[in-house]
Amino acid sequence: MVYPIVKFGDPVLEREADNITDFDTPDLHQLVEDMFDSMYAAKGVGLAAPQIGISKKIAVIDCSNGENPDEKLVLINPQILNGEGKQVGEEGCLSIPKFREQVRRAKRVTARAQNAKGEEFEITGEDLLARALLHEIEHLQGRLYITHLSTLKRDLMKRKIKKLQRSGDWV
Ligand code: NI
Repeated sequence: MVYPIVKFGDPVLEREADNITDFDTPDLHQLVEDMFDSMYAAKGVGLAAPQIGISKKIAVIDCSNGENPDEKLVLINPQILNGEGKQVGEEGCLSIPKFREQVRRAKRVTARAQNAKGEEFEITGEDLLARALLHEIEHLQGRLYITHLSTLKRDLMKRKIKKLQRSGDWV
């Protein structure tokens, strides 16, 4: 099932999600599949459960856009262990459509997470994958990428979003 994407302004995006404690259940496997379906439908490379209105610590990433099944990544209860180097590049978010901004991130990132069976693993990614890991894991902590922008840029963006909300172009 493809879920609609929750947009900026919904409080679910700005609170820390709950840890997953039950693994390998039909519901969890279904949710993971639905998250991939919803992400591909929205043409994103990453999606966090709060973005479909579910405040749980699950994120999915696929930097190949569905081209390479080996790049499908499920991150449950993830945490960043290490980041090094830097990259500056455009970043966007399915929950903040039509906006993209330059964001500085670590170039190489290592995270630890569990898979849908509850098995712990570590993943190291560079460039786009490093950016996606940081972006999605921050979602699960209730943090959006716009918190990395200057106050000036962020306020400007929020004003533009308010305008879109008022004209009914935001939901
Ligand atoms: Ni996002």
